[in-house]
Amino acid sequence: MSKVKVAVVGAGSISEMHFGGYEKNGEAEIVAVCDLNAERAKEKAVRFGAPEAAIYTDYKELVADSNVDAISICTWNNSHAPIAIAALEAGKHVLVEKPLCMTVEEALAVQEAQKKSGKTLQVGYVRRYGTNTRVLKKFIDDGDLGQIYYAKASCLRRLGNPGGWFSDKERSGGGPLIDLGVHVIDLCWYLMGKPKVKSVSGNTYNLLGNRNHIENLSFYKASDYDANVNTVEDMANALIRFENGASLAVDVSFSLHLKQDELNVKLFGDKGGAEVEPELLILGEKHNTILNMSPQIDHLSFDFNRGFQNEVDHFIDCCLGRTETLCPAEDGVEMMKMLCGIYESSAKGTEIVYS
Ligand SMILES: NC(=O)c1ccc[n+]([C@@H]2O[C@H](COP(=O)([O-])OP(=O)(O)OC[C@H]3O[C@@H](n4cnc5c(N)ncnc54)[C@H](O)[C@@H]3O)[C@@H](O)[C@H]2O)c1
Repeated sequence: MSKVKVAVVGAGSISEMHFGGYEKNGEAEIVAVCDLNAERAKEKAVRFGAPEAAIYTDYKELVADSNVDAISICTWNNSHAPIAIAALEAGKHVLVEKPLCMTVEEALAVQEAQKKSGKTLQVGYVRRYGTNTRVLKKFIDDGDLGQIYYAKASCLRRLGNPGGWFSDKERSGGGPLIDLGVHVIDLCWYLMGKPKVKSVSGNTYNLLGNRNHIENLSFYKASDYDANVNTVEDMANALIRFENGASLAVDVSFSLHLKQDELNVKLFGDKGGAEVEPELLILGEKHNTILNMSPQIDHLSFDFNRGFQNEVDHFIDCCLGRTETLCPAEDGVEMMKMLCGIYESSAKGTEIVYS
């Protein structure tokens, strides 16, 4: 069978996981790379075994390339929707990094383009493909947690504003909420069975800024790091209510006076509970005794490399028509309702209710 001819647009940090995934997938071939920075695109093509790949700096030229079957979008958030729509209209399959886009309207437009095209549009909710998530999902699907009525997620960085486009609201759509919150909210929402969102109440704060005066402590920086622009929140919290009565509490930060970074994802059901992060733990009771069950698996926490490989392998399977994607456009739409609802709630100082 012929290989899926893949292109990557946006050749920065996270693209490495996409390039690496395609390089290792026996049924994919990297045929083109696009980045505003042509040298960066070329360097990635060469390093990931595709020295002959076509190099573009304009995504419109990339989507017009008839040699390309599928496109991974790893650009700034403001270009996700336009590139995804152009690629779908040109008949390409699309794997788009999280967040799907920056607004609900954009998400609906992507969903519409996907329906018209009949091609795969997969949102990069990579944590769904982690081994810890996959193991827990089996327990949940078999009813071990019962009805999950509450979830609680924190992704808190004390010093972690990546700068550059991440902190420029025009290009990112927001700060830690749209960047980190999207992962942990999606993880909870997916494991809760994707209930429909009913209302959202949130707060965002911009009080500490990017803390770029801090010395002698390193942190993750965007490919084109620049600390001068910072128009995003440094902290957000929210309570999300779902139509089935369940609720989700979340808090996230780029900057916070906190002892150390925290990543916690917990689910509570009427038969049992679970911690997905920092380590998978399944909670229950038997014979009047509470049990904390620790699965004996290689990676109790999210395994970055395995998660991305699984995501890419699944996308290629979808491109080859073997299965439907686990992360369709409609999941991006519901997520944008939650994220944009939190920003709107914070701006208005009131709960946002969906009809
Ligand atoms: N799934 C994850 O865990 C994860 C982790 C990090 C980032 N991401 C997502 O990946 C995307 C990229 O993040 P990053 O950390 O790689 O950023 P980055 O700054 O390292 O790289 C982005 C690249 O995109 C290029 N680019 C931007 N707009 C473009 C356009 N219109 N056409 C062509 N190239 C363009 C830039 O030149 C840059 O090289 C973001 O949407 C981010 O949210 C996901």
